[in-house]
Amino acid sequence: DFCIQLRSIHLDHLEKKWISIALLVVALLVAIITIDAFFHGVNPPSKVETIDSAKLHLSKEFAESNLGVQLDANGDIVVRMVAGRYSFFPKHIAVPAETKITFRWVSMDVLHGVHIPMTNMSTMIVPGYVAEITTSFPKPGEYPVLCNEYCGLGHNHMWSNISVIA
Ligand code: CUA
Repeated sequence: DFCIQLRSIHLDHLEKKWISIALLVVALLVAIITIDAFFHGVNPPSKVETIDSAKLHLSKEFAESNLGVQLDANGDIVVRMVAGRYSFFPKHIAVPAETKITFRWVSMDVLHGVHIPMTNMSTMIVPGYVAEITTSFPKPGEYPVLCNEYCGLGHNHMWSNISVIA
């Protein structure tokens, strides 16, 4: 008997099996998300630190004179950059290759993204939050810094570049 009767709908045996599998997958995904969000506390890293995006120029850390490459108290390299329609500021920086570099990104206006090919740098830059990512550049050369979240008509032209020196 290949046919069962569920209320007034006829379901093939195989169809019923696939419906069960689909429901099981949905239940599993919901369970994973619930466990991550409420028990493991997994949240986007960019949500940890907040900042007033409208007053970046008045903040000490992201004031214009403080942007770009700096050494912190431990001698580690920290790069602070501001994303805004349609560029990253500063437009160009130079950093050493094969060195740990901490990037701190903020947006001055809308949601942007940042992607640097050949590194692990790929994150959203959400207005109101600081996105911090540590990376290193595998070899010297010119690296583009690209916006990968649609942010307006100039999105395609939103980029900057980094010279990585030996
Ligand atoms: Cu900024 Cu797309």
